[in-house]
This record gives sequence, structure tokens and C-alpha cells, in this order.
Amino acid sequence: MTELAALLAGRIRSSGPLPLSEFMAEALGHPQYGYYMARDPFGVAGDFTTSPEISQMFGELVGLWCAIVWQAMGSPPKVVLAEMGPGRGTLMADILRAARTLPPFAAALDVYLVETSPSLRNRQAQTLAGQPATWVERFEDLPPGPLLLVANELFDALPIRQLEKHGSAWHERMVGLSDAGSLDFVTGPEVPAPPLAEAVRQAPDGAVAELCPQGRALAQAIGCRVAASGGAALIIDYGYTRSAVGDSLQALRRHCYHPVLSDPGEADLTAHVDFQALAEAAGEAAVHGPVAQGRFLLRLGIEERAVMLMRNATPEVAADIAGRARRLIDPGEMGTLFQVLALCHPTLPVPPGLEP
Ligand SMILES: C[S@@+](CC[C@H](N)C(=O)[O-])C[C@H]1O[C@@H](n2cnc3c(N)ncnc32)[C@H](O)[C@@H]1O
Repeated sequence: MTELAALLAGRIRSSGPLPLSEFMAEALGHPQYGYYMARDPFGVAGDFTTSPEISQMFGELVGLWCAIVWQAMGSPPKVVLAEMGPGRGTLMADILRAARTLPPFAAALDVYLVETSPSLRNRQAQTLAGQPATWVERFEDLPPGPLLLVANELFDALPIRQLEKHGSAWHERMVGLSDAGSLDFVTGPEVPAPPLAEAVRQAPDGAVAELCPQGRALAQAIGCRVAASGGAALIIDYGYTRSAVGDSLQALRRHCYHPVLSDPGEADLTAHVDFQALAEAAGEAAVHGPVAQGRFLLRLGIEERAVMLMRNATPEVAADIAGRARRLIDPGEMGTLFQVLALCHPTLPVPPGLEP
């Protein structure tokens, strides 16, 4: 049992089962034992890898996207460029390198990183190597004014609730203890009138539905902010384009699936993002997408960028660049599972890559 599992088991013994959302929040964000709090989980030696870690082309094209949207905003002399959940800081470093090809855009940027993990903040500072940036803990801590916000694989790490359908009633799925004293799923109290999409509500007996209250609240706050102050947010993640039934919670450890309750704090936990729910929460903001990541990157010119990078490369390096581009865009890899959603000020044109 991990130290966090022992701590949670003690809490369950004294106060009863925990909602799954509380278990997930502690597993990822407990100040001492949380998965993101004291480690670098990325890359071959870690537990998983992400698009910016696969290729610099990803961040460069997101940087190009930000520059085009900034121009559509009327090229304001100051804009907050913020990334939420910046991991190793690779995406922001690649965005900023691309931004420098358009000096007035680079000069307008006030760079912010929204990060809860102290160890990843340090890692991000190393990656950004002295480039001016400010760290904050919450989206609400960003300064006012026009905003360009990027979040890649943040929403899949936000705690979810799971509801189980028993007959016609929905019950909260909780984390309790087995007879042997290990963490185990238990069925909690009935949830009257849960805020589920109509298609999900019609699910058969035994179905599992997921809700991400923190994700919805964040999409609402982002939508309000860009609608009121100008700008746009680009949300990239894996998940459902329409709200769907199913248990999508998964744990990953050293690039392999792991039982979700086994080692809290030692394995990554994620769940599919419900893009329909995010879009519905966005309020006054104009919603564009979601479109598949492959389509988005192709429209922004990933093939042309790959050819440029391959121009002076050895055959081995050129093959590697082509392979990494394929990984990002192929439907069998990350091209379709990952989706891209933009929340924009209503007067902005459809942003690049998100055309219907
Ligand atoms: C899967 S990583 C994604 C990293 C990066 N965006 C990438 O694509 O490589 C999730 C990141 O979100 C951060 N994070 C998790 N919950 C957060 C929250 N509530 N607010 C801000 N950052 C959070 C983690 O510490 C980590 O940096």
C-alpha cells in the first residue's frame, strides 16, 4: 500500500467512503504524496508522453495559431499568454520560439503559467531558461485584459465523479474498503436529478456516467473571461465529442495500464474529457470545434513544417521527424482520439484549424 493509500484508508475508516472525485483529487494533487506534486512523470523514463514532448512541431503550430488569433484580435499591444497545466514547459518554450518569428507579437506577450505542482514549476523554469514568465496557481489568479490561453492534457487530469445506474436511479460511486482493508469501489447514496445529458440519462441499468464539475467550472470561467475581456482559449485533450456513457477512468504507470485504486500517488489518473459539456459551459464565448487533432495540425501546416525540418537532416533524423508527425496526426495514433476546442470572443472569426 502506498503512503497515500494508507492515509486515505484511515480517513475512510473514520469518516466513511470518499466520493471518487475526492480520491482522484488526492491521488493527483495531495500536497505531499500527490502524483504531480514531487515528480517529472513525462517521457520514456516516466509514465506517459504528450504531444509537445513528441515533437516541437506541435508547440510551434500552437504558437502560430496564437499569433494568427492575436492579429484577428487587432494586434493588441499587450496580451496575456497563459498555459494551464504546462508539464515540463516544453509547449510554452516551443510557442515562444515560434512567436519570435513575429516580433510585434512576441513583444506584446505577458507570459503566465498556471501550475499547481511545485516540482513541475521548477522544471518549467528550467525549460524556459530565464525567459520572463509568472507562475500562478489558479486560472482566477491571471491578470485582467485580453487573453490567449492554451491547455493541453489538463482537463483529463481534473477529478471526475462517477454515477452508477441502478434500475432508474443514479448512485454516486465511492471509494471504500474491501474486507481485506484495501481500497475498493462501493456504491454510494442515490443522486437525485444528476446533471446528465439526455442521451446519457437514457442509459441502461448498470451503466456508468461521468461528470467533471471542476472541468465545467473552468470552461465556464474561461468562457466568461474571453467573452468579457477579449481573446481565445485552445483546449486540446482526449475524449468524447458528444457526452457519452462509460467508465473511462484509467491509471498509467511506466506506459502501462494499472489498476486505478492500487497505487494512488504513484500512477497517473485520467478520464475522457466530455467536450460537449465544456462547450455547453462556455456561456457567452463563441465555441469552435471540437475538431480532431490530426485535422487541426494538418490545416495549420504540420506536413510543410516537417518538410522544412527534414531539409538539412540526415536520413535517420528525417525518418524520425516524419514518424513523430505521423504519431500526432494519424487516426490510429493521436490524430482522432485527441480533439481541439476553441472558446473565443464572439466577434473573432473562426480561428485557424477549427473551420467546420
Ligand atoms: C498531463 S500533464 C500535461 C502537461 C503538458 N500540458 C503537456 O502537454 O505536456 C498535466 C499538467 O497539469 C497540471 N495540473 C493538474 N491539475 C492542475 C490544476 N488544477 N491547475 C493547474 N495545473 C494542473 C499538472 O501538474 C501537469 O503540469
